Parts: sequence; structure tokens; C-alpha cells
Amino acid sequence: MTKRPGCIFVLQKLDSDPFGRILLLGILLASAVVMAEETLQAEYIGIENCMLCHMPHFESWSETKMSNSFELLKPGVRAEAKQQANLDPNKDFTTDPTCLRCHVTGLGKPGGFKSLDETPDMLGVQCEMCHGPGSIYTEMMMKKQGTYTLEDYQTLGGLSMPSPENNVCTQMCHNTASPFTKSGFVFDFNDRKASGTHRHDLNYIYMPFDLW
Ligand code: HEC
Ligand code: HEC
Ligand code: HEC
Repeated sequence: MTKRPGCIFVLQKLDSDPFGRILLLGILLASAVVMAEETLQAEYIGIENCMLCHMPHFESWSETKMSNSFELLKPGVRAEAKQQANLDPNKDFTTDPTCLRCHVTGLGKPGGFKSLDETPDMLGVQCEMCHGPGSIYTEMMMKKQGTYTLEDYQTLGGLSMPSPENNVCTQMCHNTASPFTKSGFVFDFNDRKASGTHRHDLNYIYMPFDLW
């Protein structure tokens, strides 16, 4: 939090005036609420920023279908499946927002995907699609790595974890808004966690702790 020498000065001046101090407390509390709201406005920053400390997660993610999901929107790719889903297999869907929202990272959100030319780093379903926009959390980690609790990452940093309870996966993407989801489809969280995300057997010994 930024220091506010102006406020400290006012506090000293109002020392003998209890009514003024209550007023000041009110102002300080109100500005704290505004700051808390600002804190939650994290932006998408792209996977290159996560790789820095999470290389093994990155490498294992790169082998999943999630990492390659933008390619599916190109003409001719998975032509047969597209035909079966009544989509024109020769059409270029890479600029179609109805498809992009599930095939890139942070479509239309601050820092997120805009177009292939403008934001080539935001292709595919990256870390931030599942864990939330990472700007504030990453800044926290850069400055004070390891000294925050997991709760801090979530409340202050905006980091989130998909779970069967919060239904992030089914609400965002794995639902019938996808032309390829058949009716009666059941999303198996643990199965998808194993095959569609990244390694989960890491204990962070690979993190470059010594760099900071
Ligand atoms: C400066 C290093 C650093 C960067 C950059 C970084 N992380 Fe982390 N991250 C860590 C460390 C260290 C931990 C383990 C913290 C612990 O166990 O206390 C962690 C933990 C996590 C966790 C698990 C939290 C939990 O609740 O178990 C997730 C998810 C995560 N990071 C996602 C990301 C994403 C997404 C990005 C990019 C936007 C990113 N990280 C960038 C260092 C970093
Ligand atoms: C609501 C999110 C969502 C939308 C919208 C969406 N997709 Fe997908 N798409 C998915 C998911 C999730 C999968 C993976 C399905 C699975 O493995 O269960 C997928 C898979 C695919 C596949 C691979 C299918 C296969 O069987 O090989 C193609 C191709 C594809 N999408 C193209 C598109 C196109 C083109 C559009 C727009 C017309 C689109 N998607 C819209 C979420 C979406
Ligand atoms: C498709 C969704 C998805 C993507 C993409 C994804 N994760 Fe995860 N991540 C998960 C899930 C699900 C968990 C486990 C949650 C649980 O077990 O409660 C997890 C857990 C983690 C953890 C906690 C320790 C562990 O391994 O279980 C870290 C750290 C993490 N992810 C970092 C990353 C980083 C870095 C990236 C990008 C390279 C990334 N994740 C991409 C879904 C995803």
C-alpha cells in the first residue's frame, strides 16, 4: 500500500479534536474500500510471465490439447469433426468471437486476447483461463515470493483454483455452447485435471527462489 504522508500530517493536526478524528477515520475507511476494489482488477498478462517460475507446469501444459486450442479454429483443421457439427470446414473461425471466447485467453478483457496480430501471446487456453488474470498475483510473487499465504494469493492477488465445486470449467467452456459438446455430456473433473491441465506432482523445488 502506498504511504500517505498527507494523512499522517492531518492526523497530527487534529489530535485535540475528537470529532475531526472520527471524520478522518471515515475518510480513511472509505479510501480503503476503494483501494480494495482496485486490487481486484487484475489484468491478463500471458503465459510467458508464468513460465518464469513455473517451467515444469508450462512444459506439461504444452503437451495438452488446451495449449493448441487456437489452431482448431483455422480452415481445414479437424475438417471431419466440423462437418459433423454442421460447421463449414473451410471457414476461418480465428476472428469469430463466438468461437474465440473458449479458444483463447481473456477475450475482450483487460490485457486479454484482441486479435492474432495484436496479441499473439494470448492464444489457446493458458494458465490464466483456469487460474484467473495474473497481473497482481505475479507482482506479489516477484516482490515477496513465498511470504504470502495461499489465501492471500486468492483474496489479494486474484488467483483462483478450478474445482468441481466452483464449476469454473463447465461454466466457462465445457458446456453445450460449444458446437462439439453432445447433449447428455458429463464433465469428469478429475479425469480432465489429469489429462487436460499440467503435472500436479510438483513441490516447487524447481522455482528460482534464489533469484530474488
Ligand atoms: C515470481 C515467481 C512466480 C511467478 C512469476 C508466478 N508464480 Fe505461481 N507460484 C509461485 C510460487 C513460489 C508458488 C508456490 C507458493 C507456495 O506454495 O506458497 C506459486 C503457486 C501458484 C499456484 C498454486 C496456488 C495454490 O493455491 O496452491 C498457482 C495456481 C499459480 N502459482 C499460478 C501462476 C500463474 C497463472 C502465473 C502467471 C500469471 C504465475 N503463477 C506466476 C511463483 C510464481
Ligand atoms: C463454450 C465454449 C466453446 C465455444 C463457444 C466453442 N468451442 Fe470449440 N471446443 C470447446 C471445448 C471445451 C472443446 C473440447 C471438447 C472436448 O474435448 O470435450 C472444443 C473443441 C473444438 C474442436 C475439436 C473438435 C474435435 O472433436 O476434434 C474444434 C474444431 C472446435 N472446438 C472449433 C470451434 C469453433 C469453430 C467454434 C465456433 C463456431 C467453437 N469451437 C466454439 C469449447 C468451445
Ligand atoms: C485447463 C485448466 C488449467 C490450466 C490451463 C492451467 N491449470 Fe494449473 N491447475 C488446474 C487445476 C484443475 C489444478 C488443481 C486444482 C485442485 O487439484 O484442486 C491446478 C493446479 C495448479 C497449481 C497447484 C499445484 C498443482 O500442481 O496442483 C499450480 C502451481 C498451477 N496450477 C499452475 C499453473 C500454471 C503455471 C499454468 C500455466 C502454465 C497452469 N496452472 C495452467 C487447472 C489449470
